[in-house]
Amino acid sequence: MIFVTGANGMVGSYLEEVFSGGKLVLTDIDTLDVTDPVKVRNEIKKRKPEFVLHLAAETDVDRCEKEADHAYLTNALGTQNVALACQEAGAVMIYISTAGVFGGGKSEPYTEFDQPDPANIYGRAKWEGEKIVRFLLDRYYIVRAGWMIGGREKDKKFVGKIVRQFGEKDKILAVNDKTGTPTYARDLLEGIKKLITTGYFGLYHMANTGVCSRYDVAVEIGKILGKKTPVEPVPSSVFPLPAPRADSEAMRNYKLELLGVHKMRPWQEALSEYLKNWLQ
Ligand SMILES: NC(=O)c1ccc[n+]([C@@H]2O[C@H](COP(=O)([O-])OP(=O)(O)OC[C@H]3O[C@@H](n4cnc5c(N)ncnc54)[C@H](OP(=O)(O)O)[C@@H]3O)[C@@H](O)[C@H]2O)c1
Repeated sequence: MIFVTGANGMVGSYLEEVFSGGKLVLTDIDTLDVTDPVKVRNEIKKRKPEFVLHLAAETDVDRCEKEADHAYLTNALGTQNVALACQEAGAVMIYISTAGVFGGGKSEPYTEFDQPDPANIYGRAKWEGEKIVRFLLDRYYIVRAGWMIGGREKDKKFVGKIVRQFGEKDKILAVNDKTGTPTYARDLLEGIKKLITTGYFGLYHMANTGVCSRYDVAVEIGKILGKKTPVEPVPSSVFPLPAPRADSEAMRNYKLELLGVHKMRPWQEALSEYLKNWLQ
């Protein structure tokens, strides 16, 4: 059985289709707030899951920057609460981390062997979560995802915003001086489903393949949707934000490649499938 925290979010929206047939226990902030150590411990102890998939997080990077206590409480200590409960219950923990642990400055995509150096509080709190999991547990998978794609109606991230802009604006501005690796939430869960059968515990990067800017993603969305609205590349200074962003958060799934465990598809293919399933 897989016990899930934060199941009402973007990634959680694909759980039932990817793990159909398997037993899932889904919780979110209204049923299990991961910042409550006693409830987390009792709930996991009671359910005795084989795996705990810890999705719960404050994912609003700018809110994390403005409310550091909230960011560390949710993303670092919330993770500690789940890890301690897994330790006691003998459950394997799957912790979703982020490419945001990297600080930029590398010209090649980051691998699992590169040293994190987060550019903002969100990245720092998620990295603290990683360190806690590694310190407390022997049996864990830490899976770093890139720029998340998915969620359909719940899509409050870049892709969702751009899709809506194509219906509303005469011209779309998109940043072209920051790079990353998109990750379709459904593909992430498919990869995790395969990874957790291996017993190869440890840290993994799991993003779709390829490197791009937000501008590239916006252009691709226009192409997939057959829209004529022009997309203009702009520097990130056009959109000043509270949290600094690394110039590159691009990742390579180096350990999955070396082990031959799972191959992720190119981000353009994943984006196309996502938009077709959502909008057609
Ligand atoms: N989104 C991305 O771009 C991205 C990229 C890389 C990695 N990740 C990681 O992937 C995982 C899944 O994120 P996602 O993309 O599915 O984001 P999401 O849509 O924001 O989902 C996170 C879920 O956690 C819930 N949550 C927040 N605080 C909680 C708490 N104290 N207790 C229990 N639940 C809580 C949220 O509820 P509310 O909506 O009510 O706050 C939301 O339902 C996270 O660990 C995230 O750090 C995300």
